[in-house]
Amino acid sequence: MKTITITKPDDWHIHVRNGAVLKTVLPHTAKQFARAIIMPNLKPPVTTVAQALAYRDEILQTLPLRSSFTPLMTLYLTAQTELSEIKKAAESEYIHAFKLYPAGATTNSDSGVADISAIYPLLAELEKYAIPLLIHGEVTDPACDIFDREQVFVDSTLTEITYKFPGLRIVLEHVTTTEAVEFVLAAGANVAATITPQHLLYNRNALLAGGVRPHYYCLPILKRESHRQSLVKAATSGNPKFFLGTDSAPHLTHTKENACGCAGCYSAHAAIELYADAFEQANALDKLEGFASFFGADFYRLPRNTDTISLTKTSWRVPFYYGEDTISITPLKAGEEINWKIC
Ligand code: NCD
Ligand code: ZN
Repeated sequence: MKTITITKPDDWHIHVRNGAVLKTVLPHTAKQFARAIIMPNLKPPVTTVAQALAYRDEILQTLPLRSSFTPLMTLYLTAQTELSEIKKAAESEYIHAFKLYPAGATTNSDSGVADISAIYPLLAELEKYAIPLLIHGEVTDPACDIFDREQVFVDSTLTEITYKFPGLRIVLEHVTTTEAVEFVLAAGANVAATITPQHLLYNRNALLAGGVRPHYYCLPILKRESHRQSLVKAATSGNPKFFLGTDSAPHLTHTKENACGCAGCYSAHAAIELYADAFEQANALDKLEGFASFFGADFYRLPRNTDTISLTKTSWRVPFYYGEDTISITPLKAGEEINWKIC
């Protein structure tokens, strides 16, 4: 049986929520990953160091016994963020980044920033303290075609941000287009990107294969095949600007299978295995370790992990849902087979 062993990976973009959903999803991530960048888009959003530390405590208390998983906390940037909060975050060993959501771009982004130029003083402060800014890179203009929203954001807003703040450390989260990849490649070493498993494995046809398939609906939305190919090329290139960030975003099944279904794919149940499938399809399993275990840590200026995990080429069937009682979360590839399994 074919087995590969890699340094334990980290997930540089994940939503674990809180309460009962956190209890359901956290063991999946803690089993595979040493660390994860925890997204702050709770209701209400995590905007202060004090809130982030309380959220971190909830995560630590929810962890399975003896788990050594480390949550890396982030703060939600708003037009009301105080400069003093950025200083406080910089001084905290537990806060690793700020997240910028354009207002209304995605799930729980109502508190996001409507006019990005209005927060330039905050970006200057982040640049000063060398704290990474994690960007959901989509414009929110309803007149802009949903498939173009990332590209337009890159051409307009992001180009201006990197021009005005050349030293700002930026992660363009969950890139989905050729244009975003090209932008990141052309930018300085302070600009990097995460790539999700769903954007490596699927194109937009998955959303409408014989009917509407809500479990493939996430934001940024899946794009056409040529974009998927650009993402696979970037992820498997060995370029340290591209690293693993699942954007695993659990929603209760009934809120996705709905007349107005929520955006987000749940992938934490099989994250590293899904990436292994994608890398194997590209004949690039030898590039998985850098992408999954090294480049993100290097970008965040954290030590690389020293433990390892092994994956075996064995297919297994993904359950139709995870959770108990009132919790049901439909995972990516529910009822289908995945070719790699953590051992
Ligand atoms: C995320 C969520 O559900 O929190 N949804 C998604 O489609 N990716 C929010 C986000 O990261 O955009
Ligand atoms: Zn996300």
